[in-house]
Amino acid sequence: IDQSLIRNFSIIAHIDHGKSTLADRLIEICGGLESREMKSQVLDSMDIEREKGITIKAQTVRLKYSSKNGKEYIFNLIDTPGHVDFGYEVSRSLAACEGALLVIDATQGIEAQTLTNVYKAIENNLQIITIFNKIDLPSADITRVKKQVEDIIGLPTDNTINISAKTGEGIIEVLEYIIKYLPPPIGDINSPLKALLVDSWYDKYLGVVVIIRVIDGNISPGMKIQMMATSANYTIENVGIFTPKKKSVAALYPGEIGYITCNIRQVSDCKIGDTITSVVNSCLFPLPGFKPSKPVVFCGLYPTDAGNFIHLKDSLEKLSLNDSSFTYESESSSALGFGFRCGFLGLLHLEIIQERLEQEFDLDLVTTAPSVIYKIKLRSGNIIEIHNPSDLPDQVKIESMEEPWIKATIFVPEEYIGDVLSLCTEKRGEQIDLSFIDSRVMVVYALPLNEIVYDFYDKLKSCSKGYASFDWEEYDYRKSELVNMTILINGESVDALSIIVHKSHAEKKGRAICLRLKNLIPRHMFVIPIQAAIGGKIIARETINAMRKNVLAKCYGGDVTRKRKLLEKQKAGKKRMRSIGKVDIPQNAFIAVLKTG
Ligand code: GTP
Repeated sequence: IDQSLIRNFSIIAHIDHGKSTLADRLIEICGGLESREMKSQVLDSMDIEREKGITIKAQTVRLKYSSKNGKEYIFNLIDTPGHVDFGYEVSRSLAACEGALLVIDATQGIEAQTLTNVYKAIENNLQIITIFNKIDLPSADITRVKKQVEDIIGLPTDNTINISAKTGEGIIEVLEYIIKYLPPPIGDINSPLKALLVDSWYDKYLGVVVIIRVIDGNISPGMKIQMMATSANYTIENVGIFTPKKKSVAALYPGEIGYITCNIRQVSDCKIGDTITSVVNSCLFPLPGFKPSKPVVFCGLYPTDAGNFIHLKDSLEKLSLNDSSFTYESESSSALGFGFRCGFLGLLHLEIIQERLEQEFDLDLVTTAPSVIYKIKLRSGNIIEIHNPSDLPDQVKIESMEEPWIKATIFVPEEYIGDVLSLCTEKRGEQIDLSFIDSRVMVVYALPLNEIVYDFYDKLKSCSKGYASFDWEEYDYRKSELVNMTILINGESVDALSIIVHKSHAEKKGRAICLRLKNLIPRHMFVIPIQAAIGGKIIARETINAMRKNVLAKCYGGDVTRKRKLLEKQKAGKKRMRSIGKVDIPQNAFIAVLKTG
């Protein structure tokens, strides 16, 4: 294949600006599918993605386009994950491209993810074509959005395109621009194999399918390859492309993007961003910039019904086949029994996994409060990392603690900026930058991740009437005064309710949690104290008064079956409770801690 006829690109956009719709149009025009096969948004293959309207797994398609210049081109379109939690995977997908189509909704303008994604494209030295979408809508304002692109991003706007991905207007121009403005790949077919691992997932029939971008050399069935980061060796079984239908090919050459299968059993062996080379004639250096994506938010997942533990275990195993970015290990809690400690790329990732477990695997789950990874320097000189409050060493052994901070970019209409700034301050944030753009404000804040994992998204949305957009990236670790707050119910400490909080927030948070629990735990026949404590010191307390509840009182002593029915009903009601000490705690009480900001 003549490399000058290849173009590799991604579409980058803020959520809902039209990335998937544009991808569908491109696939439609380039004849990848018959129109009857064109389900809406073919790239979003999982139901749950369609439901959430976000793209989780990166996928890629090869398209053929006959240009007005008479030549036929091959376009490889690499889909990038659409949500803030998948920032690193976006970066790695972009590393497989020479260019990017930056899609901006002309009725909305630049949002937080537009900016972070465009910076990732620039970091990867990509050529960018700016596309203004949704021009069929009367509220589209090209002049205003163009000015934003110049002022905020600093990109020239002399070669932008106005389109409607919905009606198809301007799409041919997009295809011609791709040829004209995006550079073709330049790889050396005579060098040893060097390929970038772009993505991987588990297929029931094929095992692990790996998407690669060949930089140099070529790859074909029978070849022995090595993943450079993990040093794992495999023999290639099958090589092919997606059109978007799967199609085997004899080999993939420099600049080409396609898939390989080689009897890999686990997606966790395929690190996104890793370099693949051949065993016999290997390249000297891997591609730069590889770091395995790792979970930053952790929480416990427990089956509501303790009898479902094995089912939960099997379901997690199945899910992790397709998503190597979440981790799980078994743990037990005296309050919740047997469950798993799971790690996620962010809060939304957590929600997606939880939802998939509940919907696809029909599980009912209790989630404990999410935590981040703390670095703890012990007096002994050792440094340990923990993400479970119960692993926190005794306070006297601790020299100092550090917590992770993130850099958050927020776009918000001017009228809500006051509320957004107070929210960030309340969350211990430090302002890095603030600039006014039209009638909107872009604020960049350093914030402790620990404060974000509770209710930051929700609060940001509600204090801006849904108008604020938000993106984040990891920033640094900073020394912090953190304490382990335990909750005691009827004098007994409930492990699943412990959280690590900043000292300055402990009392307020402790009071809020106690009050919430007071409203969630039903009255019992005795008085129940609910307390928040740090070390041995009680910092907040609420009391649930006693109540005598006799369900049989109504039965006038007579009818035995009716009595039994009532007792059974009460028992079933209790099943959804967890008994701790003598107190029945409803499942939703465990989530209460999560929602207390
Ligand atoms: P994520 O998958 O969530 O990242 O969103 P996306 O950027 O892929 O956006 P998507 O293509 O799903 O489009 C979002 C919404 O905008 C959908 O309801 C589309 O139908 C609509 N939309 C996309 N392009 C156009 C357009 O040109 N005109 C109009 N009127 N609506 C559009």
